[in-house]
Amino acid sequence: MRIDIITCLPKLLESFFAHSILKRAADKGLVEVYVHDLREFSTHKQRQTDDYAFGGGAGMVMMIEPIDNCISKLKAERDYNNIIYMTPDGENFSQRVANKLSLSGNIIILCGHYKGVDERVREQFITMEISIGDYVLSGGELAAAVVSDAIIRLIPGVLSDETSALTDSFQDDLLAPPVYTRPAEYKGWKVPDILLSGHEAEINKWRMEQSLKRTKIRRPGLID
Ligand code: ADE
Repeated sequence: MRIDIITCLPKLLESFFAHSILKRAADKGLVEVYVHDLREFSTHKQRQTDDYAFGGGAGMVMMIEPIDNCISKLKAERDYNNIIYMTPDGENFSQRVANKLSLSGNIIILCGHYKGVDERVREQFITMEISIGDYVLSGGELAAAVVSDAIIRLIPGVLSDETSALTDSFQDDLLAPPVYTRPAEYKGWKVPDILLSGHEAEINKWRMEQSLKRTKIRRPGLID
């Protein structure tokens, strides 16, 4: 899978992708992530990428030309499954959306800034708009990092325990059950006996019950 991220703050993202699971996924050749500095696609002397909004009002708007230059160059080199714009008025991001996107070959993610992008960018280039929650970030970079992380860890081979992504919260619309590790007793606080019993079928049954109980209490809407 290849992810091309377009941003006017590339440094914000570079360190994120240089660490952790994402770096290992890249080292294993399972994903390629390229961060593109939008300023390099500006034809202005000052490498400007934003301008005042027509009609007035506070806040700058990202210009169409540098975005067109960058997206068109990428599209000339390969096909993309989706060109995604990170924006608070997009579709809510969820595990379901992450699962779907993890099956993509190539995607572009455009990070918004200021008052957002010229509407013509959305009309002409964008195939999907994603929000990571009902709050406004100062830019789309953190949102792009969240979406990339959630997608990349689902690519087969990225996690060392192949099954572990399948037992994540939300993977089957249920929250994950509680987990414990050694010691089996700490300051008198005990691990549930069933987990020490070695009965795999009983343990799976217990985990499912706990998942259901937790989901009913914390996120009843998921079960509806
Ligand atoms: N850019 C600013 N806020 C955002 C959000 N909540 N989700 C995605 N992109 C954003």
